[in-house]
Amino acid sequence: MTVNNPGAPTEPRSGAPVVEPRQVLRGQKALVTGANSGIGKATAIALGQAGADVVVNYVTGEDSAEAVAEEIRRGGVRSYAHCADVSNEDQVKAMFARMVAELGTVDILINNAGRQKDARFVDMTLADWNAVISVNLTGQFLCAREAVREFLRRGVVPSVSCAAGKVICMSSVHERIPWGGHANYAASKGGIMMMMKSIAQEFAPHRIRINSIAPGAIRTPINTAAWSTPEAYRSLMMLVPYNRIGEPEDIARTAVWLASDEADYLVGATLFVDGGMTLYPGFTENG
Ligand code: BGC
Repeated sequence: MTVNNPGAPTEPRSGAPVVEPRQVLRGQKALVTGANSGIGKATAIALGQAGADVVVNYVTGEDSAEAVAEEIRRGGVRSYAHCADVSNEDQVKAMFARMVAELGTVDILINNAGRQKDARFVDMTLADWNAVISVNLTGQFLCAREAVREFLRRGVVPSVSCAAGKVICMSSVHERIPWGGHANYAASKGGIMMMMKSIAQEFAPHRIRINSIAPGAIRTPINTAAWSTPEAYRSLMMLVPYNRIGEPEDIARTAVWLASDEADYLVGATLFVDGGMTLYPGFTENG
């Protein structure tokens, strides 16, 4: 394993440890929403490396989605790209129906698709509000519901996994940290937290495991402005005690483990993968 030291923005992919993937998900069928870039892309690739067949969902960016699916297939598992807007009920149902028809079932849902439409609260339009809530929160509801329906139908298959199915909701440190100028986004993530816990409680007796990952600042297209200049990067690091930006692979590895039977007793948990962002670093020398 190698660990590089804190990365300047000019040193892409710094920091994240490199480890050999293990086949902890062999034979499982995974769907990753928003998988053509950022955290979703890295997670889809990592699930494939861990032995899962992977559906790469996207809504725009067909070429990048096809490239992700092709990269996953090169590892010897099945993968295809599927265009669907996660906030559209019919499209979500069709996506799951195709997955069951082509791959047989769904074992893992990575509820990842998300977006930001930032605005000062007094300037935030209803369209800005709805755009974020409908993808980030309603989209996770629609996909989780279809996944859980399939898990209940199939039940546990011991040769595949000791759970009947796993949902991982991609949340954010902003399910806990209030974020001025991003009220729609923070509200969506706070909503994800209680949806996740409520359905985790409801379906745990069916051996369905539902958990969240709450990433901090990860180097992806959603937050380029926060890391792409040295000044922005320096100011971002004031919020990160571990003193490096997260890489998509930091989240991808966590997702593989959380989806695997190694994490079988995790139910209704949020794993903060944030370099300490939720430790209130402003209090280190203050308060
Ligand atoms: C947001 C990023 C932000 C990070 C830390 C994430 O959920 O999408 O834009 O950099 O939280 O604030």
